[in-house]
Amino acid sequence: CGITARVGSGDAVDELLSGLRNLEYRGYDSAGVATVNADGLDVIKREGEIDVLCGSVRGSSVRGRTGIGHTRWSTHGPPTDANAHPHTDCLDRVAVVHNGIIDNYAELKEELSTHEFTSDTDTEVVPHLIEEFLSAGYPPEKAFRMAIDRLSGSYAIAAVFAGTDAVFGTRSGSPLVLGRSPERYYLASDVPAFLEYTDEVVYLRNGDVVTIRPEGYTITDAEGTTVERSVETVDWDPDDAGKGGYDHYMLKEIYEQPTALRQTIRGRTDALNRRVDLDELPEGTFSGIESVHLVAMGTSYHAAMYARSLLADRGINAQAFLSGEYGSNPPPVDGRTLVVAVSQSGETADTLSAVRAIQGTGARTLALTNVVGSTVTRECEHTVYIRAGPEIGVAATKSFSSQVATLLLLCERLNHATNGATPRSTSDLLDSLTVLPDDVQQVLDESEAQTVASAYHDCESYFFLGRGVGHAVALEGALKFKEITYDHAEGFSAAELKHGPLALVTENTPVFAVFTGRDDTKTVHNVKEVRARNAPVIAVTDGSHTGATEYADHVLSIPETHRDVAGILANVQLQLVSYLAADMLSRPIDKPRNLAKSVTVE
Ligand code: G6P
Repeated sequence: CGITARVGSGDAVDELLSGLRNLEYRGYDSAGVATVNADGLDVIKREGEIDVLCGSVRGSSVRGRTGIGHTRWSTHGPPTDANAHPHTDCLDRVAVVHNGIIDNYAELKEELSTHEFTSDTDTEVVPHLIEEFLSAGYPPEKAFRMAIDRLSGSYAIAAVFAGTDAVFGTRSGSPLVLGRSPERYYLASDVPAFLEYTDEVVYLRNGDVVTIRPEGYTITDAEGTTVERSVETVDWDPDDAGKGGYDHYMLKEIYEQPTALRQTIRGRTDALNRRVDLDELPEGTFSGIESVHLVAMGTSYHAAMYARSLLADRGINAQAFLSGEYGSNPPPVDGRTLVVAVSQSGETADTLSAVRAIQGTGARTLALTNVVGSTVTRECEHTVYIRAGPEIGVAATKSFSSQVATLLLLCERLNHATNGATPRSTSDLLDSLTVLPDDVQQVLDESEAQTVASAYHDCESYFFLGRGVGHAVALEGALKFKEITYDHAEGFSAAELKHGPLALVTENTPVFAVFTGRDDTKTVHNVKEVRARNAPVIAVTDGSHTGATEYADHVLSIPETHRDVAGILANVQLQLVSYLAADMLSRPIDKPRNLAKSVTVE
């Protein structure tokens, strides 16, 4: 989601709306603004793209020099007018916009049971909590801080109060920046929101509480002590600003993976109690399920293959299908079959038609998607969101990691439902998932991908090998590579190598070998076979199998982790190699020729 806010001379509304347009890359399913006027607050919010909101604002009398705005990417509740931000208290004394997830919203809502809630969002607890403190006689700034002190989770928040010519903001885990110009002050999720008006920026820190008024701003830290934060001048090209300083959306999205994964996992793992909490799926959702069909296309299909391998490990009968095949020739299914449609966009025609093909058979259906309210969620009985945030680059990156992490949680739930999983294994896995965002960060910080891309980006053919989940990662590595470099790249199961692909291996075909702790010794044999044909070998490994590094020309290291999770880390290394190689070849990385982000025709 994206937040904007401003105070100072002139009318706020146009600046808020143009700020929202520049933050559209952060979300675009609903939007709203609130301003402070002489009589109180004006709030206007609409489902749909920002143009819809602009149309409504034009036909209204909303104005004021102090205001907040929001463009939403739904995580709680579908995109509707009611769920759009800003949210207000019962008496319309405060309006709030929020980016992030409030983990303890359910318990706060319970505590505020005398209040009338009008949305399905976690955000709405914030204005109601503030209202409590206002009613107890605290002034706005104090009421804001007292409410914030009660929140846990990740958030950036901005609020306006009736009768107060100021905006109050805070951040913890989600971004919030302050913009300073001679006559106005701004708050936003990201610099592009106000780059048209000023290039002077203060990067707020976690725990900071900021107040902007027409005459200036103050920042206090988490303890309430007034602090100075340095003012920096950004030299971004406004045209590229949505990329947050990165050259491409793809690179930005690769680097967003630690944050995306935190959002994916937050509140869903209970390592202490060795439990997975997927609140979307009531107890008993999987009772009677005997087999699982995963249907998907492209990168989502590779996530589905990854999950198939995880389910097989757990003794659960599972298959992954290309949804484009499944739709026209579905295998027999009945009430004991769970069909899981995996789709980032939730709009892929092949995947929708696969779900439609088994309607009326009694098979149970579950959508796993990134887009709240997308078509697949309406066609399936249950939905689990991957919460990766909007993905703009055509080549899917962070959505794969978040899909796999979500599928891991789903596999654990299925394991409990069908086998009564052994608590020990669940607990190890949940521990590894909890540190996964940090492990991904370590890969991003320390990757040797640049050396590999520099050494081999001029070759014409590339092969990717792996076993188990590593097979899915090999296919995804090859897909990414071919999509954005336009070079030939193919992924295989390492087991398949001797049965054909080896004929293509020469000293000009780099081979990426993915080690994830499944039959690594056999994969080392395969590596020796390609080495014997003089092919350069790049091993992606945590180094725990000495053979993996011994026969490699280059090593892309991943931290040691649970073997079910290792593939996510290995894939991040391969994403980086593909990106860097394509960049060296000057390819149009975010929009590769002939490809579309969402394919809505069969
Ligand atoms: C297209 C995109 C891929 C994506 C696939 C499935 O081919 O270019 O990046 O993986 O569609 O999309 P979905 O939205 O269903 O995950």
